[in-house]
Amino acid sequence: MSTPASAWLKTDAPRTDALTEAHLREFAAEVCADLSKPQKELHSKYLYDELGSALFEAITRLPEYGLTRADERLLSSHARDIAQVIPAPAAVIELGSGTGEKTRHILEAFTISRSKVRYVPIDVSPKALARCQQDLADVAEVYPLAQSYLDGMASAVGRRPAEQPLLILFLGSTIGNFERLRAVDFLQALRRSLRPGDALLIGADLVKDRDQMLRAYDDPIGLTAAFNLNLLGRINRELGGNFDLRNFQHEARWNEAERRVEMHLRSRVDQTAFIVEADLTVQFQAGETIWTESSHKFELDELCEMAGRTGFRVQAQWVDPDWPFVESLWVAH
Ligand SMILES: C[S@@+](CC[C@H](N)C(=O)[O-])C[C@H]1O[C@@H](n2cnc3c(N)ncnc32)[C@H](O)[C@@H]1O
Repeated sequence: MSTPASAWLKTDAPRTDALTEAHLREFAAEVCADLSKPQKELHSKYLYDELGSALFEAITRLPEYGLTRADERLLSSHARDIAQVIPAPAAVIELGSGTGEKTRHILEAFTISRSKVRYVPIDVSPKALARCQQDLADVAEVYPLAQSYLDGMASAVGRRPAEQPLLILFLGSTIGNFERLRAVDFLQALRRSLRPGDALLIGADLVKDRDQMLRAYDDPIGLTAAFNLNLLGRINRELGGNFDLRNFQHEARWNEAERRVEMHLRSRVDQTAFIVEADLTVQFQAGETIWTESSHKFELDELCEMAGRTGFRVQAQWVDPDWPFVESLWVAH
């Protein structure tokens, strides 16, 4: 039975311009709260404005950033096995798709035996989504949602036709950006939006040599530093901040207890910044940091346990031999 395409049509197509007024207010409120904490923080989702998304794309090409290539090798080798687990007429939803470059392998595997698969990429970056829609139109019917993960899931499953199985993709070890306990909460919430038999393909970077992990987040040509510093640039552009970016330094740290790489911005001097839209004056002492992102690293057993705790069974796990990274296929029960 074919599904009417209109069931997946999104009324508000992705915006390719800056944030809406409501999003700007939310951005300002979060920046105000997070820079007022004893350990200053900024939420990593704000790294991905137009420039940040372009910088992230460039990072995935760095020799030091092996994650993306490992993810892609696994997807290209196992796309057929993955597609076979999901009965027709399946739809594919991707959380944090970015431009969806690697996803082509999966979409093509569905297309071999069926007509174009329905693909719903969800991302906070409208520019990345616009590229995704353009680049993957030859292999899928693409219905992008410029929303955060769970809001996007709610929109997508709200339009889900009866009897349509779903494959959810969460690639690139983006799950590692959540605190471990938050990751479990998130996966439970995701599971609640699914039906038994729906599948989740989750790519996760494994614990490996410390220096190898750190180099992936502190490359010698400074792309990751630019990606990190751009967050302050974005606050200057969109919220009327006056950060002097030259007075901050990118830092990547391995936190052994939490098994994660943390990105920070270290203040080089005592300084004060003002952010008009947040009505915030923020003071920094020399050496103090803003914590901007965490990338948790995983063990294989831990991922199996997470599946069990969040309402999934593990159907398959594939590990890349060159860069320890795992693609896990979970099925909702
Ligand atoms: C680490 S990148 C991974 C991109 C791509 N999936 C890959 O594997 O290369 C994370 C992606 O998630 C998006 N993102 C970050 N936080 C998000 C959120 N809360 N909701 C939706 N998308 C988010 C970013 O814009 C970015 O495209």
